[in-house]
Amino acid sequence: MSNDKKNKARSTESFGKNDKDGFIHRSWMKSEGLPDHVFDGRPVIGICNTWSELTPCNSHLRDIAEYVKRGVWEAGGLPLEFPVMSTGEALMRPTAMLFRNLVSMDVEESIRGNPIDGVVLLGGCDKTTPAQLMGAASVDLPTMIISSGPMLNGKHCGADVGSGTDVWKFSEDVRAGKMSMEEFMNAEAGMSRSTGTCMTMGSASTFACVVEAMGLSMPFNGTAPGVDARRKTMSHLTGNRIVELVKEDQKLSSYLTREAMENGIRVLAAIGGSTNAVIHLQAIAGRMGVNLNLDDFDILTKDIPLLVDIQPSGKYLMEDFHYAGGVPAILKSLGHLLNSDIETVSGKTIGEIADMSEVYNDDVLGSLEKPVKKNAGIWVLKGNLAPRGAIIKPSAATEELLVHEAKAVVFQNIEDLKARLDSPELDVDQNSILVLKGCGPKGYPGMPEVGNMPIPQKLLEKGVRDMVRISDARMSGTAFGTVILHVSPEAESAGPLAFVEDGDVIRFDGPARSLDLLISEEEFVRRAANWQGPETAPKYGRGYYKLYIDHVLQADEGADLDFLVGKSSSEVKRESH
Ligand code: FES
Repeated sequence: MSNDKKNKARSTESFGKNDKDGFIHRSWMKSEGLPDHVFDGRPVIGICNTWSELTPCNSHLRDIAEYVKRGVWEAGGLPLEFPVMSTGEALMRPTAMLFRNLVSMDVEESIRGNPIDGVVLLGGCDKTTPAQLMGAASVDLPTMIISSGPMLNGKHCGADVGSGTDVWKFSEDVRAGKMSMEEFMNAEAGMSRSTGTCMTMGSASTFACVVEAMGLSMPFNGTAPGVDARRKTMSHLTGNRIVELVKEDQKLSSYLTREAMENGIRVLAAIGGSTNAVIHLQAIAGRMGVNLNLDDFDILTKDIPLLVDIQPSGKYLMEDFHYAGGVPAILKSLGHLLNSDIETVSGKTIGEIADMSEVYNDDVLGSLEKPVKKNAGIWVLKGNLAPRGAIIKPSAATEELLVHEAKAVVFQNIEDLKARLDSPELDVDQNSILVLKGCGPKGYPGMPEVGNMPIPQKLLEKGVRDMVRISDARMSGTAFGTVILHVSPEAESAGPLAFVEDGDVIRFDGPARSLDLLISEEEFVRRAANWQGPETAPKYGRGYYKLYIDHVLQADEGADLDFLVGKSSSEVKRESH
């Protein structure tokens, strides 16, 4: 499609008419101080911003937007920034994930309903980028992404402190009596000492790196610290590039293909990325019409070892990863395992970016020959306890627990867990398997990050730091342990997890990818027939909660709302006046 035709289809339809509608569209924009000549048919670039003071990880994105605008103006476009709902992982209740799909609806309709030709998505904190990409995918304009970038490495008492990962450790140390409350409080400010996202390989850093590996951002988007001047430069260059993409009519679907997603998934494994990326990538694939299922994650990551020694799977932090070479160095190390000839929004192919990169610190970055860990990737487990699948991140697990058979200690929901976990009466030992129900998409609702259940107090005091844990919940990308997540179908939907009882024996065999409840078929049928449904789950009769519970898909399908799957193009059939 030519540029003329493209512009006619979008912004020129609003700004290029010399009639009543054109008057209305231009006149109100002129109240922002825009002169007449900027409505001359130049590409209009929306800057979709998840800035919010309630999302601290994205709190510098208004500043970043100014650099994107510089680049857009310089390239001959008209930049227009707009806000969308923002989800701060640290603050939103009951969980930011409940609102990912709502943000995606906001993004989708804000893009489609406004006269813009291309869009730059500014996101960072965990759910913001996936939500933006889901919404943008359903419209399919030329699209680029700039992430918040990670915080500087946390520092406390002369040591590095990793977001989230060290919080879980400190919290367990306090409970075990190994850390004072005063020291715990002092660590707070040292951990988060600059703007940006969690600087461990949490969900935000994971997704920023995956987005880069899928070719949707400029190189080093995933790792450059949020406060690094080069992120501003990258934003300026993104402003330049998005104008070119509009002129070339290179839509999101030109880049976000099955092959690009395969690259993203392989890089996800190599960086020890968050399990949350699995659910987000499936939702995005559903919007794009890319055929991707849960088993693909296991198949595509089978031969990928861990290449970055970074928390929670290792010891370093995002700043170290960036200085060691960032995602381009990983692309180089993965070499033939990637689809290297696919184009990226930067104008270079993945292979060209890899060729230009280097590993600057082989203490931080491993290689295929000398990986940080052999077991990486995402293991997809199946069995009578998870007929539609469950996942585990082996790089963050304890090797000796990757094959385990033991009795279950069952918690019916999060309140039950909080009430009984630390009770001296709890019948649990270090071999027990902790099972938590009621934390799936419908059950909580929103599938919170509670799958990494705390270790029971009496075991902590004995020095136990990991146990096999199974739930229909998610886990923070910053968390670690032998934690089996996303059990599908969830307990709330009468998945087999609902029927597990205290003392049942569960067998988990990671290498064989199996997860089974060792009871007879007759007993299974009996329990299913007698199941009355969760008694204590909160009920919601109205509003977004109801919409979500009525329509959310299970974890193995990306937990999108069923009516949002797919796309509706950028076309709007009727005028507003
Ligand atoms: Fe925002 Fe971790 S809380 S990225």
